Amino acid sequence: MKKVYVGMSADLVHPGHLNIIKTAMQYGEVTIGLLTDEAIASYKRIPYMSFEQRKEVVENIKGVTHVVAQTTLDYVPNLRELQPDFVVHGDDWKEGVQRETRQRVIDTLSEWGGQLIEVPYTKGISSTQLNKALKEIGTTPDLRLKSLRRMLQAKPIVRFLDIHNALSGLIVEHAYIATSHGRLEFDGMWGSSLTDSTAKGKPDIEAVDVSSRMNTLNEVLEVTTKPIIYDADTGGLTEHFKFTVRTLERLGVSAAIIEDKTGLKKNSLFGNDVEQTQDTIENFCHKIQEGKKAQATDDFMIIARIESLILDKGVHDAFERAKAYLSAGADGIMIHSRQKDPAEIFEFCNLYSTLSDRKPLVAVPSSYNQVTEDELREHGINIVIYANHLLRSAYPAMMQTAKSILTHGCSAECDGHMMPLKEILELIPGTK
Ligand code: SPV
Ligand code: MG
Repeated sequence: MKKVYVGMSADLVHPGHLNIIKTAMQYGEVTIGLLTDEAIASYKRIPYMSFEQRKEVVENIKGVTHVVAQTTLDYVPNLRELQPDFVVHGDDWKEGVQRETRQRVIDTLSEWGGQLIEVPYTKGISSTQLNKALKEIGTTPDLRLKSLRRMLQAKPIVRFLDIHNALSGLIVEHAYIATSHGRLEFDGMWGSSLTDSTAKGKPDIEAVDVSSRMNTLNEVLEVTTKPIIYDADTGGLTEHFKFTVRTLERLGVSAAIIEDKTGLKKNSLFGNDVEQTQDTIENFCHKIQEGKKAQATDDFMIIARIESLILDKGVHDAFERAKAYLSAGADGIMIHSRQKDPAEIFEFCNLYSTLSDRKPLVAVPSSYNQVTEDELREHGINIVIYANHLLRSAYPAMMQTAKSILTHGCSAECDGHMMPLKEILELIPGTK
C-alpha cells in the first residue's frame, strides 16, 4: 500500500476537504498532517476549534487512516519522517503565502521519488467565505472571553490596539495588511482608560465611572469579535473591584489589568511630575486574591500592572512585586515604563524570564516607541499594547479640519484630507 500525506487545518470542514481526501484515497493509505494551533496561528487567525476537536472530526472522515500533528506550516519535518509516496493538496497554493511551502514539499518529495498531486480547487466554497460568514454572525461572550488564553498558547506575541468607541473597535477588528508571511492584523483591543476618558472629555483619573466605561465596552462588543483587555486602572476599592470582575466576565471581556497604585490615580506617563502613590505589596496582593475569588469562570485573567519603573523605584522593586503578585494568583504581569529607551524594560524581562511560574508578560511601548515587536518577543513579552494610538491620530486630523473651515469660511479646502462622502455612506453595512 502506498503512503499518502495530506496537510490540513480542518477547522471549518467543507466539501473541498472531502474532495481532497477522496482523491488521496485513490493513491493509497491516507495520513492527515493536522496543523496545530501554533502552526495555523503562524500565518492566520487561531482556529475556532481546538486541536483535539479538529482531530476528532478528521479521524472520523471516511478514507482517513492516521492523523498526526503537523507543528509547523512547513511540511518538511513530517515528510522526512514519514517519507510518503504522495502528498495531495488543493491547487490553490501556487500563489500567495503558501507558495514557498509548496516548493519545499516538491523538493523534499523528490529526495525519495515522491510526488505532489494537486486537486482542482472546489468552486463555490472556501474557508475564507465561511470565515467571513461566521464573522458576520458574530461571537458569544464565552467564546470571546476564552480566545485570549487560546491565542497566548498559540502565539509567541499578540498585538492589541486602543479602543474608545465602536468605530475604533471596527478599525481594530478589520484593519489588516497582506504580507509574504500571511495576513497581519491586530489580535485584540485594549480598553484604555486614557483614551476612553479623553474621548468623553474627562481626565484620566478614574473620574469616568465603571458603568460608563462598561457602556463603551458594550458599544464595541456589539460590532466586533476580537478579545478585549480592559484597563481597570487601580481596580478601585477591593470591594468594588469584585463587582467589576463579574461584569467584565458577563460581557465576555478576557482580562482586566489593575495597576498597583492607590489614592487618586494619575496617568502613569506623568511619572513623578504629579503625586502618585504605589500600593503596598500586601494590599495589592489582597486585591488580586479577592478579584480571583470573585471570578465565575476559570478563563478570565487578572493581570497585575507594576508601576515601580514609572515611580523610579527600580527594576529590583518591580521584580519583587512581580513575584509577590504571581504568588497571589495574578494571571500575568504588565511592566510599564515612561523612558524613551527600552533598557529598563529589557532588564526586567531578563529577571522575569528566570521565574519558574512565569505567566504572560505585557508591555506598553508608548514612550519607548522605537522598539520593534520582534525585539519585544525576543525578550519574552507576550502581549504588546499600542495604548492610545487611534485616538492620538484621530484628534489632530479633526482639529485640522475644524481650523481649515474657520480659515477659509468654506469646507472645500479640507476635502482632500477627508474620507469621500460616498465612502462614509458605505462604511457601515446596511446604511443604504
Ligand atoms: C491607558 O491606556 O490608559 C494606560 C496606559 O493605562 S498609559 O496611558 O501609558 O498609562
Ligand atoms: Mg490607563
